[in-house]
Amino acid sequence: MADLSVTVDGLEFDNPFVIGSGPPGSNYNTMARAYDQGWGGVVCKTVALECEKVHNVAPRYARLRVDNDDTSKKNIFGFENIELISDRPFSDWLDDFKRVKDDYPDKVLIASIMEEPRKEAWQEITERCQEAGVDAFELNLSCPHGLPERKMGMAMGQHPDLVREVCGWVMEVAKVPVWAKMTPNVTDITEPARAAFEAGCQGVSAINTILSVMGVDLKTLRPLPTVEGYTTPGGYSCKAVRPIALRQCMQLARAFPDKTLSGIGGIETGKDAAQFLLLGAHTVQVCTGVMLYGYKMVKDMIAELSAFMDEHGFSTIEEFRGKSLEYFTTHADLHRRQVEAKVKKALERDTDWKGDEFVEQSEKLVTDTVN
Ligand SMILES: Cc1cc2nc3c(=O)[nH]c(=O)nc-3n(C[C@H](O)[C@H](O)[C@H](O)COP(=O)(O)O)c2cc1C
Repeated sequence: MADLSVTVDGLEFDNPFVIGSGPPGSNYNTMARAYDQGWGGVVCKTVALECEKVHNVAPRYARLRVDNDDTSKKNIFGFENIELISDRPFSDWLDDFKRVKDDYPDKVLIASIMEEPRKEAWQEITERCQEAGVDAFELNLSCPHGLPERKMGMAMGQHPDLVREVCGWVMEVAKVPVWAKMTPNVTDITEPARAAFEAGCQGVSAINTILSVMGVDLKTLRPLPTVEGYTTPGGYSCKAVRPIALRQCMQLARAFPDKTLSGIGGIETGKDAAQFLLLGAHTVQVCTGVMLYGYKMVKDMIAELSAFMDEHGFSTIEEFRGKSLEYFTTHADLHRRQVEAKVKKALERDTDWKGDEFVEQSEKLVTDTVN
């Protein structure tokens, strides 16, 4: 069987499957469950120094299905949340970090941290988590709802100068690897990533959720998820975001080939994961998938990734990581290649479209995703 272990920034993961920050890593019990089921690492739910300012609402999730009459989980492709960071006291988190490292010394524990834009706060949270034994940090510079009102999360991650400053504060005191988690809600994701790397971060994680409005209930005319009749735009995740996540990971991997990348967004299977690795990710994270299918899904993911590797004769992940990046080029180059190959194209010109064969003609131009 293929060797799925990866060493990233000196951190040794049994496999590249990491729990993404969110409910699946919200306390000792959930983190222990993840390790017991075989996850290579856990990024905990985002922690801050003062939980008194965190007030969650319910409902705080909304789901989008392909077919509203099909209640199966597989039918869910979009997920929105308006959840905040952890509402647990910081001292409880420190106890949990110590307990996790006592009980699972060989598993990777990454603390997701977030603070207001004050140097003392960022340095205090970094130092105290570090003393509790965490193996690495993920800086949440990307949560799109609730926190931006306090100049946290996405409000930082959208401004490269602020990213550089905050990452610089953390790097002054961090003794373990630091990944900066990027928001997809920017024009060019490489700009905040460059700022994080300039400040000394070892890696980036991408993507956090996409700012979204899930829908409007046509009976009540209220937007979803509805809380006392109202809502606020939230973060979109699950299968639907995967193509956007793959694109932004590809951009990051191409721009920073010597840095590390944790790929996130709509990953549910080993085949999904293989695509992120082929586009340069070193590890992959799963959040919504675990909420739908449970921690045990990692067993199937491991089997699927191994099968993919065996099929291609890859014995380690490093053998194929980033292998598909070289096949991105410009549109003009695609055209040049087709002219050179003397390909007879379907629908040469826009004048070839016929009103009565429109759907059939559209079909001729399609590639379905094959996995
Ligand atoms: C309910 C929920 C809560 C989340 N909370 C956090 C969080 O506290 N910190 C964070 O960095 N990302 C958080 N995320 C974002 C995920 O870690 C992940 O970046 C995003 O959902 C895309 O991956 P996915 O499609 O596998 O969920 C949360 C996502 C969901 C669905």
